[in-house]
Amino acid sequence: MTEAITPLPAHIALIMDGNGRWAKRRGLPRNAGHQAGLKTLRQILRVAHDHDIACVTVFAFSSENWRRPQHEVSLLMDLLVRGLRKHVSELHARNVRVRFIGNRARLPTELCAQLRHSEELTAGNAGSMLNVAIDYGGQWDLAQAATAAAREHPQGLVDEHSLRRHLSLADCPDPDLLIRTGGEQRLSNFLLWQLAYTELYFTDVFWPDFSSQDFLAALHSYQQRDRRFGKVEDMVKDEDNQDASAAYSVLTSSA
Ligand code: FPP
Repeated sequence: MTEAITPLPAHIALIMDGNGRWAKRRGLPRNAGHQAGLKTLRQILRVAHDHDIACVTVFAFSSENWRRPQHEVSLLMDLLVRGLRKHVSELHARNVRVRFIGNRARLPTELCAQLRHSEELTAGNAGSMLNVAIDYGGQWDLAQAATAAAREHPQGLVDEHSLRRHLSLADCPDPDLLIRTGGEQRLSNFLLWQLAYTELYFTDVFWPDFSSQDFLAALHSYQQRDRRFGKVEDMVKDEDNQDASAAYSVLTSSA
């Protein structure tokens, strides 16, 4: 019997780290790294689309990123506005639904308007999903979900299912794969609940240098993983063999 290959991930989460160091190594301002990072994101989303990845969630600005110098924060906000303005039509043309997660209360008015526009424009798209986390923190997400769930359950009986329904991305399957570039091996307050059983992939490559080949290497690594979700190996193999015909390899499907 041949070993079943883990199917490609349906949902990939991305921590796009290393923009600042990439720029510094070139003697450029940090913002040049973020601009280069936007180009990389565009390319990786195209490759994800070509591989029928149903959902991608990217960490564009964390709730802790406000602690950066004011100048860098303003440039990042500008980049988000301009990046969305420039690229949302391409996403729309590819039938991608774009959504934003995070706390919008502190975001500039212009960015909020661009987020609304992007969401409205792409709301009817059913091809795939792009979630962009802006002023997002996993602890914030858990706190807001707990508050909403507690309102529904005034007796205080909040279980996993009632909490989950109020989390960001409640309508998406949890990420199968998290990719973090830039050499650090931590979650940095991203999707804390949703990453409970996610396969983690870390690479030293700085995000602006993260190529299509690097992305395919991450998918290939994922396909070698043995996902047990708390079960024992034989139980998982039996289930895998039942739908082995649905499994396919990134190595055979990629150029
Ligand atoms: C982390 O690198 C990266 C960010 C805080 C910003 C990422 C944002 C983009 C790539 C633009 C996304 C745009 C849209 C429209 C979704 P870092 O600055 O922490 O790098 P360092 O660790 O080397 O300093």
